Amino acid sequence: MLREFVPADLTAVHAINDGEVPAVGSESPEALARIADQSTIALVAEVGTEIAGFCFVLPPGADYGSMNYAWFAERYDDFVYLDRVAIAPKFQRRGIGRILYAEVERLAAERRPTATDFALEVNLRPRNDRSLAFHAELGFVEVGQRETDYGARVAMMTKPLEAASGTAAT
Ligand SMILES: CC(C)(COP(=O)(O)OP(=O)(O)OC[C@H]1O[C@@H](n2cnc3c(N)ncnc32)[C@H](O)[C@@H]1OP(=O)(O)O)[C@@H](O)C(=O)NCCC(=O)NCCS
Repeated sequence: MLREFVPADLTAVHAINDGEVPAVGSESPEALARIADQSTIALVAEVGTEIAGFCFVLPPGADYGSMNYAWFAERYDDFVYLDRVAIAPKFQRRGIGRILYAEVERLAAERRPTATDFALEVNLRPRNDRSLAFHAELGFVEVGQRETDYGARVAMMTKPLEAASGTAAT
């Protein structure tokens, strides 16, 4: 089941996030809460009573210091930016990421109908093969690469959003 993130989810979300470093950046619970606050879409996936995964998606214009986010803001007028996604190891490869992204795309069409692109980055160094395979499967394409100030090299990836490309209306 997917639902909106609430502050009571923070401890579980923080544990999942920190369990997946360096695939995702390490953050304090407070920093994750700030990202959630700025998000236009913040979702958790629940399996029974357990939080299995989460994702946070920022709109353009957020007060967010990430240079990866800034890279997209310089090049795209209107986009949604997936700041992070992580599924707990025992729930990976069960289709939860795919369902989460389908819901992000549905909500983005509703909440940011003018956004043209779904943007994010994936680590090339250290190489995140799971995430590269996942995003390729879901239709994301590389639109650039950058060296980060935290030592990683990342692939900048986007996928067109349906509402803005007009396909949803036809
Ligand atoms: C990347 C991640 C979010 C994928 O979520 P998931 O719920 O495990 O993915 P799904 O089960 O929905 O996979 C959908 C498809 O993606 C591809 N895929 C996903 N994980 C894969 C893997 N480990 N190896 C190869 N292909 C993979 C497959 O095509 C899969 O379809 P299939 O299982 O029917 O073959 C998850 O592995 C994760 O949380 N990783 C750690 C954190 C991370 O890397 N976040 C991304 C940072 S950019």
